[in-house]
Amino acid sequence: MRIYIAAMALAVVFSVSGQSIDRGLIAQKAMVVSARAEASQIGVDILKKGGNAFDAMIATDLALAVSFPFAGNIGGGGFMVYRLKDGSYGSLDYREKAPASAHRDLYLDQNGEVIPQKSTLGATAVGVPGTVAGLYAVHQKFGTLPWKDLVQPAIDLARKGIVVTKRQAQSLAGSRDLIIRVNHPGSLYAQTYEAGDSLKNPALARTLSVIAQKGKDGFYRGEVAEKMTQLIQDQGGYITLEDLQNYSAVWRKPIVFPYKDLNIISMSPPSSGGVTLAQMFGMLRQQSFDSLSGWDSNSIHASVEVARRAYADRNYYLGDPDFVDIDIAALTSPNYLASRMSTFEVDRATPSAAVGHGQPQTLESDQTTHYSIVDAQGNAVAVTTTLNGAYGSKLFSDELGMFFNNEMDDFSAKAGVPNMFGLIGAAANEIAPGKRMLSSMTPTIVERDGKLWAVVGTPGGSTIISAVFQTILSLRDFGMGMQEAVNAPRFHHQWLPDVLIVEPDRFSPAMIESLQNMGHQVNQQQSRIIGKVDAILVLKDGSLEAGADPRGDDAARGF
Ligand code: GLY
Repeated sequence: MRIYIAAMALAVVFSVSGQSIDRGLIAQKAMVVSARAEASQIGVDILKKGGNAFDAMIATDLALAVSFPFAGNIGGGGFMVYRLKDGSYGSLDYREKAPASAHRDLYLDQNGEVIPQKSTLGATAVGVPGTVAGLYAVHQKFGTLPWKDLVQPAIDLARKGIVVTKRQAQSLAGSRDLIIRVNHPGSLYAQTYEAGDSLKNPALARTLSVIAQKGKDGFYRGEVAEKMTQLIQDQGGYITLEDLQNYSAVWRKPIVFPYKDLNIISMSPPSSGGVTLAQMFGMLRQQSFDSLSGWDSNSIHASVEVARRAYADRNYYLGDPDFVDIDIAALTSPNYLASRMSTFEVDRATPSAAVGHGQPQTLESDQTTHYSIVDAQGNAVAVTTTLNGAYGSKLFSDELGMFFNNEMDDFSAKAGVPNMFGLIGAAANEIAPGKRMLSSMTPTIVERDGKLWAVVGTPGGSTIISAVFQTILSLRDFGMGMQEAVNAPRFHHQWLPDVLIVEPDRFSPAMIESLQNMGHQVNQQQSRIIGKVDAILVLKDGSLEAGADPRGDDAARGF
């Protein structure tokens, strides 16, 4: 401890650059923060009509499917963590599943080598979508307004058209070649769009109208299901009508753990988010890092060292709990976490080769989306949803107006071989029929002194856990406000490869040098941004402060 404090004194404090707005939108009663202003507005409109946070979730989610096809979806899946006004909490898993015909070696050739792009591009990459089943399950359990009234705003938006933003035009341009390769040059999102253009998706409006009338069955049975399976199978993919009919979302017990005076509620497997976050906060506590005073080289070093150890366990032990036994109590026990930190040195990076998984991984980008909602009664939801890659598998149905996920790549195609984000998997996450692929999505709700305090989450694949961890530490230990914590520069280490990725030009040269002197392999080029956190903080007077990430088009709305 004494050595640590001494080292702290030598720490180089970095300055936050490039972000000018440090205070987020303040609302007295209710708020929605998401990747698009239209989606946040639609969610808030539902809240103003008397809907609760769950009603707003359904409307916001479907509005993101229209306005943010990069990651918003009906052809993907996600996770939701909630906390009710009475303090009870829970979570919903609507992660995609492997089709029934899938098997461990689905993406390997005759020599046992991974076939490039088979799990990432086109129909072979698609997992059975979970989003509509998830939203419908939420409505059945918690909805107060009629289902069709919650779907209607997205239908109207798809018909009326969204205004293309500059970032969106750039993102579509970046994916155009692949969208054409998987589809055809006339495909809706293969067109050239400029910022300010209106983009209408009447086919998606029709699909949503069927879902509005028939609920879950409007997607998983009947004409929409038939069109989906026809397209996927025509293109060589595996999903059948039975796969769709057999899909269901699962209510799961969240991972709940303390950190100082906080109680953190996060997603359980098949997301790795909650367990990994619990390990990271637990290891930090074991080392008595109570004296952290800000993001300096020592606090970054300590955070990297706990991440290195937690990610090594993530990749080895975690998978779909319906298929593999995961001893969460053992993985998060104080004694185990203390033993994991026995090799920690306050001023020296531990090489990842010397860490390995304990005995009781590279980089995903921002191709997912998260939104946070608090309603006027005090109910809160944190939702992270994804198609996996940008525009998922790029497979787009002209008839249905939707992209399909490429979530099959989140399985470990072959032990020891990295997936599209460089994550190296093990047997716990190998492919099996009907199994859910391991995720990093970390929708999280934080209580302080027993009350709702923060709703946090982000896209970013494996970097999600780092961004959520750093945001909570910025709030709790460094006393930042919500927008300030969201703006703060981010870094990421995931055990393998043994590289400390930092957002470029956001850390001072002295800070980088200090970390390099400790032995960290710092890389400033690998990722332009790490996460896009959309979050809400309950302030002392009960009002809400938004943190809408300026790294994207993200926006808060509230009243
Ligand atoms: N596909 C990103 C994740 O689930 O972590």
